[in-house]
Amino acid sequence: MRRIAVLTSGGDAPGMNAAVVSVARSAAFENMPLMGVNRGYNGVIRRDPALLEALLRRAREVMAGCEEDEKLLAQIEKAVRNQASSAVPDPRPLLRKYRDQLCLFETLEEFIAAYPAFAKDFVNLDLDTVLDIADRPGTHLRTARCDAFRNPANQLLAVLNLTAIGVVGMVVIGGDGSFHGASKLCDFGMPCIGIPGTIDNDLTYTEMTLGYDTAVNVCVQAVRQIRATSRSHDRPHVVEVMGRACGDIALRTAVATGSEIVIVPEMPWSVEEVAGKLQRQINHGNTRATVVVAEGAYASMAPFDVYGFLMPRGKQCFPGETMSANRLASVLKRMCHDENGQDVEARATVLGYTQRGESPSAYDAAFAFESGNRAVRLLLEGQENLVIGVKEGKVFSMPIKQALRLQEARSEYFDRDLYELVNSL
Ligand code: ADP
Ligand code: F6P
Repeated sequence: MRRIAVLTSGGDAPGMNAAVVSVARSAAFENMPLMGVNRGYNGVIRRDPALLEALLRRAREVMAGCEEDEKLLAQIEKAVRNQASSAVPDPRPLLRKYRDQLCLFETLEEFIAAYPAFAKDFVNLDLDTVLDIADRPGTHLRTARCDAFRNPANQLLAVLNLTAIGVVGMVVIGGDGSFHGASKLCDFGMPCIGIPGTIDNDLTYTEMTLGYDTAVNVCVQAVRQIRATSRSHDRPHVVEVMGRACGDIALRTAVATGSEIVIVPEMPWSVEEVAGKLQRQINHGNTRATVVVAEGAYASMAPFDVYGFLMPRGKQCFPGETMSANRLASVLKRMCHDENGQDVEARATVLGYTQRGESPSAYDAAFAFESGNRAVRLLLEGQENLVIGVKEGKVFSMPIKQALRLQEARSEYFDRDLYELVNSL
């Protein structure tokens, strides 16, 4: 029995469930059975000796007499058993010839009855199971950061497990790390199509990633609320948003809320420079400016001795303490002064995981719908090793490896003009 599989991986992002529902609807429309994989790549690397024996036995049977194939099979067996981390053989020549015969069970129910441990990993995804989850934040399939999957022997094991249950293609919803994983699966003969699911918007090849628009909306709502209280008390506020090494959430949030200062990982900055900007705002009568800082921006900060600055100025601190939103507010409070020469009462809020916990915005939900359908169609057309994205507002696809190569120049795609505009107005 042929089936396709879908998994979500990396940080959960609003819209992941909607994309899974779209995959499920599209697969059902095409009469293609669909299986969900739980907990990201953790769900494909279960080492079940009994299943491995059964699969190898079947492989030996179907390859009997073909010396070359038996030799390659023996190498594969050795690599999987020894959990080799290098020189793992390529199973594609065997999969091209025998994939169908290596499927051990017609249905997922039979498979799980024979190997019950996999009930934690594999689930049937029919329409009844998934239709209600489309609008929900988080990911119904669960997700994980799975370091073990970086080992090539485990990637090979994943392809064997999936082949044993008749999976002929996978939809991987995640960020660039997940796409690296998908690319490895493709290299071992499991066709994959990637849907960009991350709030960070840090994938260069696409104009948007699933979850980014929703996360920005969460940040915008929070900053509006924060600005209401800042205005009431006439005090500045530092708001930290997520994004890993990408400043897109911070920049977009700052633009949409009229925040006066934005700090991002893509641009070098110093505490003194930010304090200077804040002081200029205060001098012009704006006593409640908002500083939106991306969580990754401390990496592009000019060296600053947090302990050496704060301790003598009456703020408890520890030697070697690194910069944070709270620390930045404490430093700005002591560097900037109101019209009476008093320290400003700067406050800080870290928005954190709230950014991942909202129902998908219309924009994200619509992209989830289109990308899920496109992924299924591509797999059924026999395409593989592609990622789906948005270019000039239209959904498109391109090779995973090419998309990952573009990541090397990611910071060049940051919108410096908009950044300068926010900080200079
Ligand atoms: P994201 O997909 O959001 O970028 P991560 O970087 O945490 O999130 O990656 C998600 C998962 O993808 C990792 O936990 C790991 O299982 C897999 N992965 C990441 N990088 C690689 C790699 N180079 N090779 C194989 N798998 C990888
Ligand atoms: O990649 C999405 C993201 O939310 C980042 O913005 C953030 O840095 C990271 O995940 C947090 O990851 P975790 O859930 O593993 O703490």
